[in-house]
Order: sequence, then structure tokens, then C-alpha cells
Amino acid sequence: MAKDINWGELPFGYYKTDYNVRCYYRDGKWGELEISSSEYIPVHMAATTLHYGQEAFEGLKAYRGKDGKVRLFRWEENAKRLRNSAHGILMKEVPDELFYNAIVKAVKLNAEYIPPYGTGATLYIRPLLIGSGPQVGVKPANEYLFMVFVTPVGPYFKTGFKPVDVELVRDVDRAAPLGTGHIKVGGNYAAGLRATERAHQRGFASVLFLDAREKKYIDEAGPANFFGIKNNTYITPKSTSILPSITNMSLEQIAKDLGLTVERRKVPVEELETFEETGACGTAAIITPIRKIVDNDMGKEYFYGDEAGEVSTKLYHNLRGIQEGTIEDKHNWTTVIEGI
Ligand SMILES: Cc1ncc(COP(=O)(O)O)c(C=O)c1O
Repeated sequence: MAKDINWGELPFGYYKTDYNVRCYYRDGKWGELEISSSEYIPVHMAATTLHYGQEAFEGLKAYRGKDGKVRLFRWEENAKRLRNSAHGILMKEVPDELFYNAIVKAVKLNAEYIPPYGTGATLYIRPLLIGSGPQVGVKPANEYLFMVFVTPVGPYFKTGFKPVDVELVRDVDRAAPLGTGHIKVGGNYAAGLRATERAHQRGFASVLFLDAREKKYIDEAGPANFFGIKNNTYITPKSTSILPSITNMSLEQIAKDLGLTVERRKVPVEELETFEETGACGTAAIITPIRKIVDNDMGKEYFYGDEAGEVSTKLYHNLRGIQEGTIEDKHNWTTVIEGI
């Protein structure tokens, strides 16, 4: 029950809400949006999602602003990325209108779970697309399920806006250069789990993956993109195997607006030595500053500081300000959900 939630203590985890929405693609077309109060979905035992990984998802948030309004942040980009993910693994694409109607409906139906402004918590929105039709041969399904559930969450990294330690990974690849790293499909996360859990056990908040081909360049952090700051420049990796983060894309623009130079290019591991600040960014991570990066195999440690750097702090406040309606949204990134 929403009234029992201690908003300030919420972890980034699953919390049951009252409703979710679902829509099936059958006989060559998308059907009507259905409302469900069940947390379970009936799945055919031969569904392609279970056997061949036909599955993609998204993650965005609804933010309660200081003015009481509820805003979505760049939902069109999530819709586009889900279409790209569907295209990448031959699933039926979800039209933007269906995507928008489904997320708005899921948020409105669970409005009491939208955390109040100032608590640091938000309502996380999880759209999911799966191949629900049966196949035994390796083929795309003929039926798909698109659904959206929401859950109130606190910060992804327990420390919130406090620097965390990150472990550089050399013995596991998250995604191949021409594989599925650039789309948001479950297989990428399965591939990274072993390294991520090991890092947690060793006391790190996250991992940092390298490019799979040469092991020379930074790819991205577990659930987030990577950036480094030096000489008034925002630098972030260019790679075919990283997920194009909407947060990162937005931070590049905010950095420009703040007068920084922005570079998206290959970032060699040795360059870690030269950064004044580094961070992980994403919807869940927002900006999580990095305290140190440990490269165990090479016996190296890169230290950035116990406190968040000046530039990361500025970027963080600007991004959150736009999302919460306290800073002018001059790029038209937010959409107010009326009536809640
Ligand atoms: C692998 C990966 N990289 C980066 C991101 C950050 O992307 P975004 O800023 O769009 O949430 C995410 C989270 O969605 C992710 O799972």
C-alpha cells in the first residue's frame, strides 16, 4: 500500500503497485490496451522469449515536480529505442502512440505510488516487449506482448549522489562489437551478470566494461554510460556496443549549455589517469560520481576523490532541475501528465 511507503528509504527494487497494462500483437496487428491487476503473465512454454531471447525492455521515470506536476523525461527517445531494439531482434515494433498511451495509463492508474517531490524517490516505468508466440525452430514469434508496469524506486546506487568504487572488467564481455550491445535486450544483461555480481561481492558498486575486440577502450558501466571530465570538456565513449543512453545524450547538451566542450570518441583505458572527474550516468544512476576505478589485472587504481566534482555536481543539479520542473526546460524534454 502506497500509504505505508517510507519514501526516503526506498531501494531501487521492485515494489508491488496496483495495476499494469498489456497489449498483444496477434494476427498481424496490435490489439487494445488491457488493464491488469495481476503481477503474473501467462506465457506459452515454447514462447520465443524463453528460448531464443526475443525480449527487450525500457526504463524511464515519472518525476513529481516542485510545482506538483508529474513529468516524463524524453519518453519519445525511449519509444524510439524500443523500436530499435525490436528491429534488432526481429520483434514487432511498438508504435509510439501505443507506447505513450501505455506508460501514461500505467502511471495514472498507480498515481498514489508517485513519490512526493524532495524525497529522492521517483516512479520507475518499465515497458517490456516479448515474443509470446510459440516456435521450436529458431525463428521470430508470430505473437508479441507489450506491457508496462511501474514501481516506486529510490536511488540505484545506495549512496545516492556520493562517489562509488568501480571495478574494471577484463575477463567478461558484455556485448560484441557487432552484437546487441546498442539495443536494450535481456541477453546483454545476462552476459554481464557474472562480472557484476563478482564486483558487488568485492565491495564495488559497479563494473566498467571494455571494448570486446581490443580491450583498449572504455565501453560503459554495468547499467549506465561512462563520462570523464577534464579541461572543461565532457568526454564520453563512442562505441558500437554500448547502449545509447538518453541521460548521456541529455548531459552532452547540458554540458554544452554550460559552456563545456563535448567529445564523443574512443576513450583509451590510459586516459583514465588524466580525468579530473568521472561518473556513470543513466535513468536509474542519474549521475553517480566515481571515487575510484580499480583495474585488478593490471594492478592499477585511478582515484578521483571522496566527494563529487564541481562539474558533475553542476550537471547533476541541472538535469534533476529540468526533470523536476525547477529549471527551465529549454529543449522541450519533459511532458507533463495532466490530471494527476
Ligand atoms: C547498459 C545500459 N547502459 C546505459 C543505460 C542508461 O541509459 P538511459 O540514460 O537511457 O537510462 C542503461 C539504462 O537504461 C543501461 O542498461
